Amino acid sequence: MPARIIENSNKNIQSEKLIFPPEKEKSMQSHINVESKYTDMYERSLREPEKFWIESAAELSWFKFPKKALKYSPNSELGIFQHTWFEDGILNVSFNCLDRHLVNGKENKPAIIFQGQNEKEVKSYTFKELHEEVCRLSNLFKSYGINKGDRICIYLPVCIEAVCAMLASSRIGAIHSVVFGGFSAEALAYRINHCQCKIVITSDVTVRGKKKIFLKKETDIALQECPSVEHVLVVKKDPDLCEMNPHRDRFYHEEIAKMSPDCSPEPLQAEDPLFILYTSGSTGKPKGVVHSQAGYLLHASLSHKYIFDIREDDRYWCTADPGWITGHSYVVYGPLANGCTTYIYDGLPDFPDPGRCWKIIKENKITVFYTAPTLIRSLMREGESWPQSYDLSSLRILGSVGEPINPNAWMWYYQFIGNNHCRVIDTWWQTETGGIMIAPFPGCHTLKPGSASRPFFGVEPIILRDDGSECAPNESGNLCMKRPWPGMMRTIWNDRDKFIETYFTQFPGLYFTGDGAFIDSDGDYWLSGRVDDVVNIAGHRLGTAEIESALVNHPSVAEAAVVSVDDSIKGEALYAFVTPIRDCIPDETLRNELFTEVRKIIGAIAVPQTIQFTSALPKTRSGKIMRRLLKKIASKKYEDLGDVSTLADPLIIKNLIKGIF
Ligand code: WTA
Repeated sequence: MPARIIENSNKNIQSEKLIFPPEKEKSMQSHINVESKYTDMYERSLREPEKFWIESAAELSWFKFPKKALKYSPNSELGIFQHTWFEDGILNVSFNCLDRHLVNGKENKPAIIFQGQNEKEVKSYTFKELHEEVCRLSNLFKSYGINKGDRICIYLPVCIEAVCAMLASSRIGAIHSVVFGGFSAEALAYRINHCQCKIVITSDVTVRGKKKIFLKKETDIALQECPSVEHVLVVKKDPDLCEMNPHRDRFYHEEIAKMSPDCSPEPLQAEDPLFILYTSGSTGKPKGVVHSQAGYLLHASLSHKYIFDIREDDRYWCTADPGWITGHSYVVYGPLANGCTTYIYDGLPDFPDPGRCWKIIKENKITVFYTAPTLIRSLMREGESWPQSYDLSSLRILGSVGEPINPNAWMWYYQFIGNNHCRVIDTWWQTETGGIMIAPFPGCHTLKPGSASRPFFGVEPIILRDDGSECAPNESGNLCMKRPWPGMMRTIWNDRDKFIETYFTQFPGLYFTGDGAFIDSDGDYWLSGRVDDVVNIAGHRLGTAEIESALVNHPSVAEAAVVSVDDSIKGEALYAFVTPIRDCIPDETLRNELFTEVRKIIGAIAVPQTIQFTSALPKTRSGKIMRRLLKKIASKKYEDLGDVSTLADPLIIKNLIKGIF
């Protein structure tokens, strides 16, 4: 039972005092219903990884079952994870997500249910129907000469076609690269060129609230600089014509209608790449994170099953966009491999009113809901009367992902969405990890608002001080991993050096996550956010270096430094310090041009909330920008600026504080 319950959402929570042990009766049906069972399985996954993972591999369907789980040389010279999983195994991911459910009585079970922003726009596919459409699209890809290993770019809003494109790509052994629909033409072009995609699947238009976004137009701009693209498939949403290049562009539905609904799945090696997903790091350009077939799928499906405690009749809704890793692992691959009905919604969470999500949950009797803290906080601001006007009693489990969830938002989620009876599951993981790494198991772990709780099977975290020594309990440090796990990224596309440099040089022999964390005296993990120059804006991961390079692209800008400041809704907001070139007097026109520049180069999500013009940036004598200082100035925490003795010109600080240019 809850230790304490808040009366309204505005009270400040003393998180460390709140604990929510599992309720015995409800836990009885859980896959893991006593803590000792979790501990046994977890410890075995570390003690006998070979046996544990070979047994777990039986959860998947194989054309050839692997003889060996992990090949790993921990003392390899490079000090990095040289590992393969199930290397001699052969399987097909789309077979696991579709075909195998057609013979186990699930063929008429809904596989995916789409709800558009417009209430009347609902589309549902059974596993059989989804299988048919995926086969047709696979055949179309083949007719275009797309082969195993070729890259397919998917630039779509949340829609069933995006899911079909991912599954069809995996069916023929191609490699998909999904690009979030909020990215600009230039960001799209970079991603297409970097991995040389042969085809782009896009849509004419998508709506966000009252705004229309023309993805095909963005695609056309991008493709002026993408010679590798031979074909464009357009999902037509609006009866109005969009411009089509007759040599290159075709309408998706017209084309797949001509194709056969049978297509045998390509037998693939476990370690063949399944997809590339570009993500931001602390360098100026996004990195193409590469995931494998079997290890990835097993991690996504196993974690989905245990952490959301999935049952046969669950109606599961994850609000993520397929453009992000959560959309890959927990909208598409995890749920479908488990034969679970996955709901998708394309629209704003508060359109036409802030009750929209709660209405969808009520009408569809959603049992498991997985979303981001930013959505929870933005709907919490609208008050509890919205959720209270809908019957949300179907809910059993509430998940959170993407950024730390503050205890206030956790409690609001627990009390007003979960009606004090759902398990709130805070899941920590990353694009690179492929699946959830740290999260409570709903049936056996005591929940603490703000803590991601325990490691998943096979995950061995360690928290280190900057000097590499291990932190004591309750002491914050750098979160690293001691050994590889099945869903771990295999490399960065075309850039093995960057892979090594980014993840394995800071703490040699360990994978460095870039996150800060501590373990409390009970052994629960608390994540505090990034310790590098990556920020999370409304759950969207961005590198400040990417935004800085967009800003300095403007001819009037000499230098820029971007930091994040706390934001009560978005978690973090962007604050940019910009130094114009000599003789340029910055004004509102320049400010607006810079907003436009970032929107053009990256997309609207990366546009800073604030731009402060400055005559210089604070630097150490060796020329390093002191971001720590800038962050404090942006947050108006002037009393605690720390040691500024290494600053080359201390006067700059005074001017920055006063806002003097
Ligand atoms: C942050 C999203 C605290 C973290 C799946 C991580 C979190 C980055 C949590 C990865 C959480 C994600 N608590 N922080 N539950 N989940 N993060 O690659 O900083 O888009 O490194 O993957 O989000 O973001 P990415």
